[in-house]
Amino acid sequence: MYSEKVMDHFSNPRNVGEIDDANGVGQVGNAKCGDIMKMYLKIEDNIVVDAKFKTFGCGAAVATSSMATELVKGKTVEEAMKITNKAVAEALDGLPPAKMHCSNLAEEAIAAALEDYRRRNGLASDESVDCTGCCNSCGHSHGREEDFEDED
Ligand code: FES
Repeated sequence: MYSEKVMDHFSNPRNVGEIDDANGVGQVGNAKCGDIMKMYLKIEDNIVVDAKFKTFGCGAAVATSSMATELVKGKTVEEAMKITNKAVAEALDGLPPAKMHCSNLAEEAIAAALEDYRRRNGLASDESVDCTGCCNSCGHSHGREEDFEDED
């Protein structure tokens, strides 16, 4: 069911923890399953030099968080903003369809951390996060909660 890479990143997640002097921090949650992911980024000269995460969630959420931190490191802020949940899932050699939503958390956690960085540096407006399924924990209100109620 799960690829070897998913099992590897689940059993041996990379970059778990916090960054004390992170300058971009984002927390997102999945309103449906209740899982929570917190992403810490250290950005210097517009490059993500370090990334760590803490995830309270399912195995796929842990694996996608781990891979997301690996993907984001070394990227410019602009490149990091383009990392999609599909890219994270592909880097893990795929996820079962029923677990693709777990990778949304990784995309949104990166986006929320980058938004925090941009806001701290006067680069972002509150409207610039393009969230795909809102948990409201990033502080923005996208009015998307009803999307989850309709899903099954
Ligand atoms: Fe909630 Fe995977 S079941 S993120």
